[in-house]
Parts: sequence; structure tokens; C-alpha cells
Amino acid sequence: MKKNSFQQEQEYQYRYGQGSGSGLWAEAPKEEPERQYYFIEQARGMLKARFEAGLSSGRALEKYGKEQLDELLAGEFFGTFCVVTFGCQMNARDSEKLSGILEQIGLKEIQSENADLVLYNTCTVRDNANQKVYGRLGYLHALKKKRPDMKIALCGCMMQEPTVIEKIRKSYPFVDIIFGTHNIFKLAELICGRLERDRGMVIDIWEGTDQIVEDLPVERKYPFKSGVNIMFGCNNFCSYCIVPYVRGRERSRRPEDILAEIRRLVADGVVEVMLLGQNVNSYGKNLEEPMTFAELLRKVNEIEGLERIRFMTSHPKDLSDDLIAAMKECEKVCRHLHLPLQSGSSQILQVMNRKYTKADYLALVDKIRAAIPDISLTTDIIVGFPGETEEDFAETMDVVRRVRYDSAFTFIYSKRTGTPAAAMEDQVPEDVVKERFERLLKEVQQISAEVCGRDLHTVQKVLAESLDDHQAGYLTGRMSNNTTVHFPGDASQIGRIVDVRLEEAKGFYYMGTQV
Ligand code: SAH
Ligand code: SF4
Ligand code: F3S
Repeated sequence: MKKNSFQQEQEYQYRYGQGSGSGLWAEAPKEEPERQYYFIEQARGMLKARFEAGLSSGRALEKYGKEQLDELLAGEFFGTFCVVTFGCQMNARDSEKLSGILEQIGLKEIQSENADLVLYNTCTVRDNANQKVYGRLGYLHALKKKRPDMKIALCGCMMQEPTVIEKIRKSYPFVDIIFGTHNIFKLAELICGRLERDRGMVIDIWEGTDQIVEDLPVERKYPFKSGVNIMFGCNNFCSYCIVPYVRGRERSRRPEDILAEIRRLVADGVVEVMLLGQNVNSYGKNLEEPMTFAELLRKVNEIEGLERIRFMTSHPKDLSDDLIAAMKECEKVCRHLHLPLQSGSSQILQVMNRKYTKADYLALVDKIRAAIPDISLTTDIIVGFPGETEEDFAETMDVVRRVRYDSAFTFIYSKRTGTPAAAMEDQVPEDVVKERFERLLKEVQQISAEVCGRDLHTVQKVLAESLDDHQAGYLTGRMSNNTTVHFPGDASQIGRIVDVRLEEAKGFYYMGTQV
């Protein structure tokens, strides 16, 4: 286990947080996950004792109100928690693991931040993600003043940056627990540390890890679909991107662990999985017995009862012919590929360290479409990377017009301290970037409205995912190619794949009826 430059002080704080005279740590198992199950029980015991003291003093009724207190008592909970997730699917999955641990220690999940424990799982991929967190911390401070025993915990990618930790210690001293991306499995242990000491900040950040802790509790957001991590970290170091610094080096989970997890999920009602990694196409390279992503897909495809397989994200430089073949032959693999372009200019792509050219990318798209004609393609594009000229931007627009994406996430370049691009001299002026961004967005939206309607009047398999937010008596679901469909139906059908005739194309979504 490597630790960063805060090592000494954190270790001091952390050991102090554990309480020197306590038997809690002396008796803890050394092995994971047993160690965390031990701390889950310890934290549960501490929370239970506090909750019962609050019940006898009348403080609990005052704090929760009658309705919430009754719910806690009925569910044998000892308090409430709220997890707020910023960022990508990876963080969303981490939050499900964090929620799983928090439920096991006896806390009930609520949607309001007026809770006993509030956990922000942060993102730092662009600066606006960071600003959101700082803004909400101000709001949390106000809540905490009214609820002094509230605990605030921060974790995720932003916490892996030493400057962020510095700022929080200085400007947000009311935060109770901070941890990073490599040790989320330790949440129960960190909570024990904070509860036992009952003051100060517990900080535990690891710079990296080769540990993958399996088999901790998970509380899924959806009963019928789930993300499944197949790898962690990233080795690509695209020159604008902070992810490799905050998520560490690439580590693949063992295929048998992945397959066992998916089988368990299927037994528990899951019909769709999303295989998650920053670059799934390089899956398996560092395993004891190397395996490719294509091979993994074929194995997942064999799992009985599983209906749909998605994956995120594919780096164009590593997308093999065998993967295209696997996608084509595996009937459960959805007809959708997210293939981040970032820029259409070969010159910019080179400085971005993406390791492909415009021509490589277009050739890859042709190859994929030749093999799987009905595939839907989506992408990520950055506007305003340092040195981007009007000609470079025109190349990006050209790729957008040629590929005709179903949808594209467009981002304004954000300077991330410590990345090579941040030190580049020719940063593009803000007004120029804004103007290019608007042009790109317009193009992307217009094309998307045109191509999304191509399946009109056909019957498609749609996974019913939720009640329609806008129309009573309707459901919202997704086609294999990820397009949204609204159609009449009732709650009992959520989680099922149904046949829907697409009656009306509305640009980004369809209206349909079940057949
Ligand atoms: N691993 C994924 C991307 C993860 S980050 C991949 O390689 O495709 C998601 C998206 O955020 C990236 O695809 C990129 O378009 C965008 N992004 C990353 N760093 C950024 C930055 N500094 N400024 C603007 N957008 C950025
Ligand atoms: Fe970032 Fe590039 Fe890794 Fe994606 S592949 S996470 S963009 S460094
Ligand atoms: Fe953000 Fe971390 Fe994901 S920086 S995009 S939450 S990997």
C-alpha cells in the first residue's frame, strides 16, 4: 500500500482516530473482507447504543420527527444516511458499494441531505465537478449547525488530489471523514475511527493499490440492471485527463470473480449488466492468466438468464477485430458502442496522446458498421484543447458529419493541474472555445435528431426501466441501442423486456405501444 505526501500526518490522525486504548483494532482480523465485516458489526454496535440513548432521552423524536422515527424503528435502523454521487458510472457503482456498507451498519438511506451521515462521492474530471462539491459543502455546513451530531464524509476522485485535501482542512473543518478511490471498502473501519474519537477529521488517502477487495455488501439502485466493474484505473495518460492520477494504474478483476458476481446478480433479478472500466478494451492484460475483453464478453454472453450486456468505455486504439467479431456473434451484447473521439484533428489527437489519427478512427467506424450495420454509435468530444485552431476544429466537425453519431457528449476543455496539457502554452481563449462549442452542439443535436428516428414503425425489444416522469400510465424504457422509448404500461412491467412498436420519432426518443 503506497501513501501520498500527506502520509505522516494522515497516519497520525488515523491512528489517533482509532483511539489508542481501544481493543477494537487489536482484535480486528487482518484479512479482507473479514476485517470489514468485523468493523461493520462494531460500527453497528456503536450506532445502536447512540440511537437507544437518543430514544430514552427524547432527543431521537426531536431529531427525526414521528414519521421518520417510526420508519427507523420498523426497519430496525439506527439512523439515516444520504449518498450524493458526482461523475461517471464508475462512481455510481462505488456509491452502491458504499450504500451497501452503510445499510449493514444500520443506517437507512434517504434522499435528503438532512441525515445522520452525508457522503459525497466526488468527481474531478472537469473543474465544474469540483465547484459543485464546494458549493454544496456550504449548504451542508448550514445543515450541520442545526444537527451537530451529523457526520459528513467525502470520498472519490477529487479526494485523491493533495491540493483538495489542503483546502478542505483549511476551509471546511466541519468535514468528519475523507477517503479516496482506493480504499472505499474500508468505510466501516473509518466510521469506527471517527465515532470512537468523536472529534476532528479522519483522513485516509492511498496513492495507489494492487488490492481488489471482493464480496462486500452492495445496495443496488435498480433491481433489474447493474454495473459490474471489470477493471479499475487507467494507464493511458491522455494529456488532458486526470483520471489516471486519481484512479491509479490499471488492474483487472479475475474473470471468475466477474462471472460469479454476474451470476449472483442474475439470480437476484438482474437482466442487464454494464461492464465497467476506463478502457475495457485493454481488459485482462495484467492478469496471471491473460485474457482479452472479447473472450470475457463471450463468457458473459453464456450466462443463463442474463438478457443484455453493455460496456463502457472503449478506447479506439485498443478495439480489436476479435472484439467486433464477439459483439457481432454475442446476441446479448447491445447494439450500442460508445467510442470517444475527443478530437477529429490528427495533430490534436497526437498531442492528446490518444494514439490514433482521424483516418484510423474513421476506418474503425467503417469496419464496425460493416460488421454490425444496425449499431448505434455515441462519443465524447473535447472543444478547446490547447493549440486547437479553427482548422483543427473543422476536422472535428467533419468527423461528426461523417460518422453521424446517435448522440455525443461535448465538453469544454478544462485545465487539470498536474496533467501535461495544463502546462501547454497556447490555451485557447474562452470566447473562441464557447463559440466553437455552440456550433458543435448544434451540429451534434441536429444529426442526432435525424439518425435517432431510423427505427420508426419497427417493433423493438425495450427494457422497461421506470414510470414515465411526464405522463401517468406510461413507462420509460431503453432499446438495445440505448435509445429511450415511452409507452403505455404499468409498474408491474418494470425490469421486463417487452416488445414495443415505435409509433412516433421525437428526436432523441420515441413514443410507442406494446404489441
Ligand atoms: N475513460 C474514458 C473517459 C473517462 S472521462 C475514455 O477514455 O473514453 C469522460 C470524458 O470526459 C472523456 O471522454 C473526455 O471527453 C472528458 N474529459 C476528460 N478530461 C477532460 C478535461 N480535462 N476537460 C474536458 N473534458 C474532459
Ligand atoms: Fe482519461 Fe484517457 Fe484514461 Fe479515458 S483513457 S480515463 S480519457 S486517460
Ligand atoms: Fe469523474 Fe472519477 Fe469518473 S474523475 S469521471 S468520477 S473516474
